[in-house]
Amino acid sequence: MTEVQVATPGGSYAIKVGAGLLPSLGAELKALRPRVTQILIISDETVAALHGSAALGALGNAGLSASLVTVPTGEGSKSLAQLGALWERCAEAGLDRASCIVALGGGVVGDLAGFVAATYMRGIAFVQVPTTLLAVVDSSVGGKTGIDLPQGKNLVGSFHQPILVLADVDLLATLPEREISAGLAEVVKHGIIRDPGLLDWLEQNAEAILALEKGRLSELLAWNCRIKASVVGQDERESGLRAILNFGHTIGHALEAVVGGHVAADGWVHGECVAVGTVGALVLSQAVGALQEPALIGRTEALLRRFRLPVRLPDGFESKAILPYLARDKKATGGRPTWVLAERAGSSLLTADVTEAQVLTALAYLEA
Ligand SMILES: NC(=O)c1ccc[n+]([C@@H]2O[C@H](COP(=O)([O-])OP(=O)(O)OC[C@H]3O[C@@H](n4cnc5c(N)ncnc54)[C@H](O)[C@@H]3O)[C@@H](O)[C@H]2O)c1
Ligand SMILES: [Zn+2]
Repeated sequence: MTEVQVATPGGSYAIKVGAGLLPSLGAELKALRPRVTQILIISDETVAALHGSAALGALGNAGLSASLVTVPTGEGSKSLAQLGALWERCAEAGLDRASCIVALGGGVVGDLAGFVAATYMRGIAFVQVPTTLLAVVDSSVGGKTGIDLPQGKNLVGSFHQPILVLADVDLLATLPEREISAGLAEVVKHGIIRDPGLLDWLEQNAEAILALEKGRLSELLAWNCRIKASVVGQDERESGLRAILNFGHTIGHALEAVVGGHVAADGWVHGECVAVGTVGALVLSQAVGALQEPALIGRTEALLRRFRLPVRLPDGFESKAILPYLARDKKATGGRPTWVLAERAGSSLLTADVTEAQVLTALAYLEA
């Protein structure tokens, strides 16, 4: 088991990564909160069917009183309706200020359950038990919680740090291949913005990772938690540095907003859109003159392909269709997105100084 410490003004806690960790959930929780009362596990229907009873057992065996509530699987559950229903469930289950919520699931459950914990009784403790690769390396670290509105994703939320993240790699064994790949897009992103050694390592260990070889998978996950923890530790509330985590996401989010209805795209998931957005951000970095290491483009594409991720837009997709969505990016000010660009492997910068012609060059490169 590897432990990564997260230290932010909003709270300090451990991320524990390794195999066979879920059975120790009860003991871990008791060590952190000796007087914990009721525990409510929040999960989605898919994850609850696979791992719900193991999580309940882990708490029950430690003599803790726990119940499980599920929401439908999918992004649609990050809604005001589910939030309201969960608040009421908390009250019905008798949760008080000394209670704890356990988020058992991917980023959807983590964001939603975390926001329930942030708001119920003005904030109670919560533990993240991430069950997707993306949730381990990204959404469970850093304390962003929230829900979507019909008008846009993640429009309502709060910063609320968990008291513990327990990342058991055994739980990833049931994850569909496509979700493994999606999470790896964020891992490649971490390498590009912060850590050239990570890219080298990924090139040497790609097959072991795709095969979910537990030792190397645990090493990779802990490494990425460390990268994200170091960024959010320096900038919990995203007043500066944290924005670099948005690398590949300006085009990625725009693509996510448009491919939904595009037949050829077959409903791409977030990580797939980020993979294409990552290539776009690298090509844009070159067009702007920021990229000092042009070979990074081909290298990244090769790595993303090995991870079964797309590196071009869906067939027949016109890149210009993305343009209007870029200005709507949440990180845009006055219609101008702030871009995260790469200088070389492991080094990134933020700038709004990018022309539409340069963006169009990058987008055209992405056409299949
Ligand atoms: N808070 C943050 O900092 C942050 C960062 C990145 C993303 N996010 C959010 O995370 C969400 C995406 O997270 P995600 O990709 O984990 O999606 P998700 O939670 O929807 O999980 C993806 C799919 O995998 C299934 N699943 C989860 N664990 C499984 C397992 N162990 N075995 C089998 N199936 C399993 C889920 O039921 C779902 O169908 C988005 O809402 C996004 O906004 C938040
Ligand atoms: Zn992402």
